[in-house]
Parts: sequence; C-alpha cells; structure tokens
Amino acid sequence: MTKKACELIIDHQPFKFNVEGEFFWGENKLLFKEQDNVISKMSWKEVGYDIVEAFQENQFLNLKTSIKKNIINAFKLNNIEFDENTFTLDKYHEVINSDALHNKVIDVTRNLENSDFDFDIDSLVEKFGNILGYKLTSWVEELKKSHIQIRISRPNSLDINPPHRDGYLSYWKDIINVWIPIEGCNDKASLPVLPGSHLIPENQILRTESKGAKINGNIYYVPCILETSEGVIKMMRPKINYGQALIFSPYLIHGAAVNQNEDITRISLELRFPRA
Ligand SMILES: [Fe+2]
Repeated sequence: MTKKACELIIDHQPFKFNVEGEFFWGENKLLFKEQDNVISKMSWKEVGYDIVEAFQENQFLNLKTSIKKNIINAFKLNNIEFDENTFTLDKYHEVINSDALHNKVIDVTRNLENSDFDFDIDSLVEKFGNILGYKLTSWVEELKKSHIQIRISRPNSLDINPPHRDGYLSYWKDIINVWIPIEGCNDKASLPVLPGSHLIPENQILRTESKGAKINGNIYYVPCILETSEGVIKMMRPKINYGQALIFSPYLIHGAAVNQNEDITRISLELRFPRA
C-alpha cells in the first residue's frame, strides 16, 4: 500500500492525516442518478444535504440515555473500570484512554440494532419519508438487518473515517443517510460535508477501493477519497442543533469528522434508511 497525506480544508482550516492505500481516478460516469433518487423531489437536491427536525426534547433525552446505556454496556462487556455514578458521555476519553480500549468499545457500538435503543425508529422512518416524498424502511435487505451505529470521537484523536461516499458500497446505493448529534457536536466536531459533491463524476475523483484505506492502523469499509480534479477537498461543518438530524445523499462526500475540542468527546448516531 502507498502512504499518502490526505490534506483537507475544514471550515477554512487545513487538516492533514496519513492514509495508506492504492489510489485511482475513476471512469467518466456520474453514479448519482439524476432522476428518481431519494432526494430528487427536494429544493436542496443540488446541495445534497439538509438539516431537519427529528426529535422533541424528551425524545432526544431518552435517546441520549439509551446511547449512554449501550456505551456502559460495552465497558462492562470488556471489564473496563469506571464509575457508573459519575460517568458522562462528554468525558468518555477519561475512561477510555488508549486506542486499544477504544477499539474494544467500538467493536460493540458499531453493530447495534433497533432493539438496543429506546426510540421509535419507525416514526423517524415515516417522518423522513414524508419529507422526501418516498417510502423508506429501516431494514437493509442485503445486510438482513437495520443499521444503527454509535460514532465516538475522542478529542485529539484520529477516531475518524476518511472523506468518502457511502454509495460506493452496494447496500448503501439507494438510501438516505442520517447523522444525529448526541454530545460534543459543536462547530469544532460535527460532521464535515462537501456541498454539491454528489454531482462530481468518477473521473474527477481520486480514491481507493472499498476496504482499501488504512488510517491510524484501522482499515475502513468505505473507500477514501483523497482529492478531486479541483485539488484539495474543501469541506464545511453544517450548523446543527441537538434534536435535529443531518440528512444527505449517499453520494455526498463526507467524513473526516475530526474532533478539534480539547476536552470533550463527540458522540453521534448514524442511521441509514433504504427506499422501501
Ligand atoms: Fe459515511
């Protein structure tokens, strides 16, 4: 594998990390279907993402509590020492103080299902389906399960996936991506996107194959997009509040959600809803 520096601009600030992989430019082809895709009825279809209301205050607090329960469960499964009475999500990095421990926790939190959470996923499916004007489901047929993933990013860490498009993976081709802020998701830590990037054809994208990029020792399922024909990727973090969700096309370039807070762990929830 070739070692490269992935250089990005996030909200006008340069950011750089090392990535290993084999990189190539694609064919002269646009993967995003211009007609009848899940965002094609939206006024924001050229931008590729929007911020929508997702939860009332009490619903959000219940969701946050059940996320905390799942993380505590992952601590217990791995016999990690912590004080259950004083533990708060934003101080996760004080309990989990090494990459090895963190990897044990995310082995549990990356593969959760609807039944692990105290929230009504079907009402969210319906709400977003009504917004988009398409019937959605939480069931991913190719994987034979729903997809709910807690994302945890410690301060001053490389707990990030590379800039990527989920739509490169066959089971994420016809879905709406949902990103929900839970803790520490401020302007230094929430998810960066490249607006309008779902409209970039493959011959203008330099990337790896799926499972072809390694960052900080971890191999990612999604391909790493290193740059476009316009050069360094210039991302921005959309402003989002708790109780809202960022919804976006699976072809929108996103990721590299580095947590630039000094002392707050960032937690978010990722869902994906295929068209029914
Ligand atoms: Fe993604």
